[in-house]
Amino acid sequence: MEFRDRDVVSIRDFSRDELESIFSVAKKMEEEGYDRGLLRGKRISLLFYEPSTRTRLSFEAAANSLGADTLWFAGVEGTSVMKGETLKDTIETVANYSDAIVIRHPYDGAARWAAEVTTRRTLRGEKKVPVINGGDGRNEHPTQTMLDLYSILVTQGKIDGITVALVGDLKYGRTVHSFAYALGMYRCRIRLVAPEALQMPPHVLSYLESRGVEYSLHRSIEEVIGEVDVLYMTRIQKERFPDENEYNRVRGIYRVSKRTLQGAKPNMRLMHPLPRVDEISPDADEDFRSYYFKQAGNGVPVRAALLAMVLEGSR
Ligand code: CP
Repeated sequence: MEFRDRDVVSIRDFSRDELESIFSVAKKMEEEGYDRGLLRGKRISLLFYEPSTRTRLSFEAAANSLGADTLWFAGVEGTSVMKGETLKDTIETVANYSDAIVIRHPYDGAARWAAEVTTRRTLRGEKKVPVINGGDGRNEHPTQTMLDLYSILVTQGKIDGITVALVGDLKYGRTVHSFAYALGMYRCRIRLVAPEALQMPPHVLSYLESRGVEYSLHRSIEEVIGEVDVLYMTRIQKERFPDENEYNRVRGIYRVSKRTLQGAKPNMRLMHPLPRVDEISPDADEDFRSYYFKQAGNGVPVRAALLAMVLEGSR
């Protein structure tokens, strides 16, 4: 199992065993503390072409906890992207300053392209700079999925055998694409709750079928709330809709409140990659089943474990 210099572009680039080795390193870091000397002298660049709170800051916290320095931009304002610089040229340049690059970009496939650019550098005798996808368009958000699976392990003690509902914008939401792919590696039941126009894309459903995953399509949370172990809410991704009228037809369609949770199992956990808009009412925050803020907190040990393994090949 080799992690050193690995790109992290799709969750499908990792096996279940590899994911579990990341979780065991993350758990050990949480329990034993972070070794501030582990990544001393390393520089990690965080190139965020799109807004972010959790992904950028938890990567920064993770890097700093292990002694690495971070270089970053948050939004392209103030960068040479504004002068027309291509993604390739930015990556070629930043790779000279970096031991790893984390990128978030509005275009599907941008992280794969960035990884290809740093791989091509090795043909010129330059060192490989691993690229980590911090979310590319509507495509994937693999490190979010790593912390989501870790959150399930922490709260449920297992992933095999559980029932997970993915609710909301399953079409444009990148977190649920990576998450569904990963759940397909486990023996889970999946409930997909969305309006018809925002159901899971056919290529993800085909993948689930190829893995023999038991899944079903639903329109309302009430159809599934009593049976699920994890209710994974998502925001309707307003910024991805090509037509505002289409967005207005589905905005606010799902809202979980304290009252909704009355129908849930005691061990159920309410998760959300965040940010939320109106799909979880603030009155649900105090329910013991609401886990989304702790889930965001799990981003630090999981991303620290990943950085350590990609940069050092171990913890
Ligand atoms: N979950 C997530 O990606 O959050 P941010 O957009 O705040 O990074």
